[in-house]
This record gives sequence, structure tokens and C-alpha cells, in this order.
Amino acid sequence: MPTKIIHDCDPGHDDAIATMLALASPELQTLGITVVYGNVGLERTTQNALVVREILGSKVPIYAGADRPLVRDRISAEAVHGKSGLEGPHLPTPTGKLEDGHAVGFIIEQVLKYPGEVTLVPTGALTNIALAMRMEPKIVPLIRQIVLMGGSIDIGNWSPSAEFNILCDPHAAKIVFEAAVPLMMCGLNLTHQTPAIPSRVARFRALGTRVGEFTAQLLEFFRQHHREVFGWEGAPIHDACAVAFLIKPELFKTGMYNVEIEANEGLAYGRTVCDYWHVTGKKPNVEVGLEIDADGFYDLLVERIGTYR
Ligand code: BDR
Ligand code: CA
Repeated sequence: MPTKIIHDCDPGHDDAIATMLALASPELQTLGITVVYGNVGLERTTQNALVVREILGSKVPIYAGADRPLVRDRISAEAVHGKSGLEGPHLPTPTGKLEDGHAVGFIIEQVLKYPGEVTLVPTGALTNIALAMRMEPKIVPLIRQIVLMGGSIDIGNWSPSAEFNILCDPHAAKIVFEAAVPLMMCGLNLTHQTPAIPSRVARFRALGTRVGEFTAQLLEFFRQHHREVFGWEGAPIHDACAVAFLIKPELFKTGMYNVEIEANEGLAYGRTVCDYWHVTGKKPNVEVGLEIDADGFYDLLVERIGTYR
């Protein structure tokens, strides 16, 4: 039986590739895509989700969610993803529409409909997930698992301490990390092991398909910021790591740690504070991704993206 997932995202180059991987994988049944503001504003992230769905020829339902964080002011990552949030390839005007209703309502409805079966896969700010937990606390014990991209056990990328998705809405992250739901975290310490260096990008292009070429062009744009700011030859495909974990957990090495969110403003605002050496005596609450077999990850991506024409 495929794992039922809801992909909550803010596309986003790597979100788009995570969606491609999820929708091409028989191990997963994507009940729906819920969209949150993040890399760019909600108007663009929802538009981008529709574009990606159209390119993939999918009919998966897409719901718009929160357009801002719970408490703090919105930040955005236009500098990384470009003005549209999906800069690089030509983006067609999508013919499909968003579903009626709010993403948060959809999450609540699906978790209640399939108790204990739904895995949430957030690859953006955690606002939609936190709102769902607050609006209908009954869902919390009924969520099978949350496998998210966000945080880091060490360095940040949006501040020295914080990773972008968590920094977007630290208060929402605090709600989610404190909920009694099995949580797996693909943070920067893991995702940075997956740079899309030119030889890997060439594998998508060599598929000789429309979607393979689209992926290559996404990755070529995504590389620019990472080259300028970090001096890397390729951008990590952060968000696809979370989806890959659900398909092939054997590619990952993980460990259980106590992780708490710093939601007070200051130098560590938005940090996922990970007790790596178990010095606090606090109960481990998060399965933290430590290592990923990057070649195996790219083999999986190329194989699955190769199923689209
Ligand atoms: C995360 O931030 C976003 O820009 C990416 O889509 C990814 O989810 C990496 O920090
Ligand atoms: Ca994202």
C-alpha cells in the first residue's frame, strides 16, 4: 500500500523537483499539494504549483494556504529563486485551477478521513501545518508522521543560526516540533550533501525529455545563487531529500535527538537547537537526517523524473 502524503510546499526550484519525485513514485500516494507563502509570495507559489502540475500532466488537487507567518513579518527568498520563484525555464500559463477551500481545511479533512495514515511532507514554512494543529487539535495524534525539509544541526543559510524555512515562521515551527507527532528532519547538514553539480545536471538533460530539460534548467538557475554566495558548483536539492526519505530510507543515516526551536528574537532566532551530544538529558523527539547517499539519491531522481515525457 502506498504511503499517503500531503506535500506542503512553496515552489521554489527544489520544491518543484520534490513534487516531480513524489508524483512519479508508486511508493507514495499524493492526496494533495498544499501551498504556503515562502520563497516568494503566495500568489506566485500557488501559480508555480499549478505550472509544475501542468508540466507533469498531473491532476493532483492543489490548495492555497497561509499567505503570511503567524507572528513575525514575512521574509522571502527571491534572491535565490528569482522574481517568479521558479526562474530559469520557460513557464507556461497554467490552464488548471486551484481547488476551492483552504489548505488548512484540506489537511484537517484528510487526516480525519485517514486516521493514522497520512504523512505530511512540508518543504516550506510550517505555517499551514501549525494552523491545522491549532484549528483541529484532534488531528495531532492521527498524523502518521511529518517528514520535513527545514532546520539544521549546525550552520544556517539565512542567518548564521537559522535555515530559511524555519526562520520564515519560527512560532509555527515551535508548535510543530512540540507536537506529539513522529518527526523526521532533513536539515541543511543533510541536504548540503546533495549539490547538483554539472555532471548531475547533465543526467537530467540526457534523459532527452521535456521534463528532464525543465529540471536541468531549474537546476542551472538555482546554481547561480549558491555559486555567488557559497562558492559551490551546484545547488542542493533540499526539498527532494524529504520525499526521497519516504521512498528509499535506506539511502539515509539518521539518529534520534532532542530538537527545540528558538522562537525568541536574537542571534539564534529560528534555530533548530539540536542536542547532538545528549547533554541536556531531554528526551529525543526528532529523527534527524545525518547522512545521505547522494549518488543513490540522484539515481532515484533521474530514474523517476525519467518516467515523465
Ligand atoms: C529551503 O529554503 C527554500 O528556499 C528551499 O525551497 C528549501 O525548502 C532551504 O533552506
Ligand atoms: Ca521549499
